[in-house]
Amino acid sequence: MKFFIDTANVDAIRRAHERGMVDGVTTNPTLVAREGRDFRELVEEIASFVKGPISLEVVSEDADGMIREARELNSWIDNAAIKVPMTWEGLKAVRVLSQEGIQTNVTLCFSANQALLAAKAGATFVSPFIGRLDDVGHTGMQLVADVVQIFANYDFDTEVIVASIRHPLHVYEAAMIGADIATIPPAVLDKMVNHPLTDVGIRRFLADWEKVRAASGK
Ligand code: E4P
Repeated sequence: MKFFIDTANVDAIRRAHERGMVDGVTTNPTLVAREGRDFRELVEEIASFVKGPISLEVVSEDADGMIREARELNSWIDNAAIKVPMTWEGLKAVRVLSQEGIQTNVTLCFSANQALLAAKAGATFVSPFIGRLDDVGHTGMQLVADVVQIFANYDFDTEVIVASIRHPLHVYEAAMIGADIATIPPAVLDKMVNHPLTDVGIRRFLADWEKVRAASGK
């Protein structure tokens, strides 16, 4: 399972990268706005140490505008994946971009049929938004299960990025389903390593090791 980091914060990406947990990065306009920095500079800084796909989102609403923006974003770095919204215009743009060999990530996916359309358009990635579905009373993870099954049925190459992850249980469930990728907010990644029994175990081993040292007189 690949782990992408769901943030535009360079310090957080670097921390996860140093822990060996960054196979890629996803950003969106909201995450970029939070950083209050020049977009291109920010992207180039992330790409200076992240070699996996870095998702950068277009903001045009028509296919021609999306394609223009995508080509520009793709020229900034070697490993861009262009995030395109799940609309007919977005799908038209995805078809053209995939024929040009530009990686695409169809975002704001909330149904299995939307994911199917993205795969047929030739998307590199599709991003079902789990947390936002949970927020409105649906079972977000069921969508992931459905999309993984559909893509397996027809051997689509499009990879599933589980997005809008809110807590470690989402990552666990995505992994049980066999999703290709989870894009994980830094705070959720931090929590994944924790278990109270690990902490208790370390304290107990260290205390017992003190007894070994005392017995050997060192
Ligand atoms: C990533 O590609 C998405 O933009 C992100 O996971 C959305 O997360 P949110 O629903 O918490 O804003």
